Amino acid sequence: MPDNVPRAIAAPLLKWYDAHARDLPWRARPGANAPDPYRVWLSEVMLQQTQVASVIPYFEKFTARWPSFEALAAAEDAELMAAWAGLGYYARARNLLACAREVAARARIPETEAELLGLPGIGGYTAAAIAAIAFGQRAVVVDANVERVVTRLFAVTEPLPGVRPRIRSLTDSITPDARAGDFAQAMMDLGSGICTPRAPRCLACPLHGQCDGFATGAPETFPVKAAKLPKPQRYGTMFWIERDHRVLLVRRPAKGLLGGMRALPTGPWGDLPPGLAGAPFAADWRLLDAQVRHGFTHFNLDVALAAATIAAHTDAPEGEWWPVADVEAAGLPTVFAKAVRVFGRMHA
Ligand code: ADE
Repeated sequence: MPDNVPRAIAAPLLKWYDAHARDLPWRARPGANAPDPYRVWLSEVMLQQTQVASVIPYFEKFTARWPSFEALAAAEDAELMAAWAGLGYYARARNLLACAREVAARARIPETEAELLGLPGIGGYTAAAIAAIAFGQRAVVVDANVERVVTRLFAVTEPLPGVRPRIRSLTDSITPDARAGDFAQAMMDLGSGICTPRAPRCLACPLHGQCDGFATGAPETFPVKAAKLPKPQRYGTMFWIERDHRVLLVRRPAKGLLGGMRALPTGPWGDLPPGLAGAPFAADWRLLDAQVRHGFTHFNLDVALAAATIAAHTDAPEGEWWPVADVEAAGLPTVFAKAVRVFGRMHA
């Protein structure tokens, strides 16, 4: 079907959602009064780059500890960064706090997409999602699930990412004026449970009769993606420095990868394994016969691990001496938590 043929998508989709919506802790029941904007905002920021199943325990922990914008605005930076540890993309946590403080200072969160867009950490997707879900405003909400559903519905053959503007206008063409938040979340649920990447369950889909992708017989071939370049490989070394049953933890510089997070000392990361080149000081370093591997968005990192035990009076760089037995409570980002587990096994 060409783009300009209006399709009755919203009505059957909302009917399906009324019966099959996922029960998620930030949601209101389908058709019910709007949910708490704080919970919608928090969940949408957490869900920006993280799957629903991983977000749920963090969402529960955050809302129990900080139940409102005001409560979160009063949190200490370090406390919030530690609570976020493991969710990744730490700029989100810094922006989360900046946004909570701004909303608390204004005494309310704005309700329109345009005003939301000016707040820290709120880009186009999140502004649209909050306006629709928390405030019932008509907004065009496009995340990866929606991209998949829409490229299938309209059998879009041009590749991502270039085709995004067209996907947006196609999504606009099927977005209803009423129940915009339920519609957005219905599209997400359809994408997550039925219109899945590899083996979509088309016969269970309320839209298969109107789906051009289904009609092609190969809906799983949408969305088409431009060929990706392989991720670059980078290397680094992490240093485990122990003194008196305590390990040295430092805070990473505010700007840059894992900025502001507590971490083990590292040397610079580069294109070749640096060995002990970036060691924080001269010591009797022992390079462990183990590596930690971690995939970041834009590169893969292989980390060598070096350990030294130093005497109580030795000078060492600035940092916190954290009890080794309690290091799992330090709120380290995942790549450091992986390294700590290896150090724990090999250095004991
Ligand atoms: N992903 C992003 N926002 C979501 C939501 N509100 N429900 C389910 N999945 C989502």
